Amino acid sequence: MTTAGPPGVHPDAFREIDRSADPAALVASLETRGRDAAQRRLRQRFLRAIPIRRRHAVLEVGCGTGVVLRDLARLVGPGGRVAGIDPSRTVIDAARRLCRGTGVHVRQANGATLPFADDGFDVTLAVTVLLHVADPAAVVREMTRVTRPGGRVAVQDQDFGTCALAHPDRALSDRILDGVVNHLYEEPYSGRRLPALLRDAGLEQIRLRTEVFQETTLTSYMQAFLGRRAENAVRFKLVGADDAQRWLDGITTMAASDTFVFTINYYGAVGVKPPARRRA
Ligand SMILES: C[S@@+](CC[C@H](N)C(=O)[O-])C[C@H]1O[C@@H](n2cnc3c(N)ncnc32)[C@H](O)[C@@H]1O
Repeated sequence: MTTAGPPGVHPDAFREIDRSADPAALVASLETRGRDAAQRRLRQRFLRAIPIRRRHAVLEVGCGTGVVLRDLARLVGPGGRVAGIDPSRTVIDAARRLCRGTGVHVRQANGATLPFADDGFDVTLAVTVLLHVADPAAVVREMTRVTRPGGRVAVQDQDFGTCALAHPDRALSDRILDGVVNHLYEEPYSGRRLPALLRDAGLEQIRLRTEVFQETTLTSYMQAFLGRRAENAVRFKLVGADDAQRWLDGITTMAASDTFVFTINYYGAVGVKPPARRRA
């Protein structure tokens, strides 16, 4: 799958999905991840920890194709309200189609300029989004603005400094995995910085919960994820095409002998918006 965009487009395809080489492939990859059993468990633990309750009004910033929105609709029930925004027209169209009948409302917007009044949501969340944005602090400030006093702002990101993959050639593997994230993201270790982002936005009672995402089989989600890493390693000239293929072959060999292991930490941080008199 080629997801890299033309020259001049940011190398992280999730930064500008609509200008990437294959937006439809990114739509498919979000849905593949959404269906993955380990990812589903991770997501549900995060939503439980916020927590999301029946009749809550919830906004998801960077909703993608609506994987989390569909979970949220079930959790808030018919008396609740779920909205999602995303700057990409492609994923908003997909989310509208995939969330049909759930009561979820989606619209195209940027997280740094939310088209909502102050104090309107019980919970505002962003799941694996801040890693991809140019100014995560601006997005968290906007999420805080549209959350009611006493409501919660919740953010979750993976942290690529915690990525571990069993591989016969560890040096090659490190070159690819560490090298690619340093080219793709301005802050590949964003997960561990989430509590500071919430504190800087004026939130209180900040809690951090770290989950380990673990796969011991080469699922279709893992295959797609690692395939993109190999493709990017060649694109960023970290390795040649032969070494990238040798790396993928090593992974296949591990999977065939039942020794495949991939883990990464997902950091989930939740803060409470204080009453106006305590905010600067
Ligand atoms: C990895 S996807 C996550 C989608 C969804 N939250 C999920 O977990 O399935 C990251 C999303 O962030 C969106 N995004 C990128 N820049 C953004 C910004 N400035 N404001 C809001 N969302 C943004 C992308 O368009 C993409 O849909």
